[in-house]
Amino acid sequence: MFKNILVPVDGSDQSVRSARIAVEIAAKHEGKIHLLHTIRPSEYTFTGLDLIDTIEKGAREMIENIIEKIKDEAAAGNVEITSEVTLGNPAAIIVEKSKRDYDSIIIANRGLSGIKEIMLGSVSNVISHHAKCPVLLIRE
Ligand SMILES: Nc1ncnc2c1ncn2[C@@H]1O[C@H](COP(=O)(O)OP(=O)(O)O)[C@@H](O)[C@H]1O
Ligand SMILES: [Mg+2]
Repeated sequence: MFKNILVPVDGSDQSVRSARIAVEIAAKHEGKIHLLHTIRPSEYTFTGLDLIDTIEKGAREMIENIIEKIKDEAAAGNVEITSEVTLGNPAAIIVEKSKRDYDSIIIANRGLSGIKEIMLGSVSNVISHHAKCPVLLIRE
């Protein structure tokens, strides 16, 4: 447990916080973390496929930004950080990956949409119900 942690990120402050907590936990368990961002079809289908490269580049920069913010703690704790950008339905991809590749998921309950009235966002809701590995929900 916590040897191989999946940390889905959307660039929100909450996702940065969950990545930071993931580093802390990984450091204590001699684990590593994998940051994942999934670009939704709705983000590129309307704008045309030629923009995927630009959107992907933005997503990679977003992840690099998060790594920049947490890398000192990671280095101090000897935590390896890897990252990945995929295309598709975020929740479906995270559930699929939870079936074999990771021993835990650390995810914030809220993200970019920022609708305060509901307790879980669309992605965290599906993950907490359908992931195939333990999920640590980082509440605001
Ligand atoms: N496209 C995505 N790719 C990877 N992780 C995501 C994505 N969207 C959201 N997440 C993760 O899920 C968390 C909760 O976000 P979400 O469920 O979408 O709530 P909200 O409705 O507030 O945006 C985020 O902090 C982030 O860690
Ligand atoms: Mg969201």
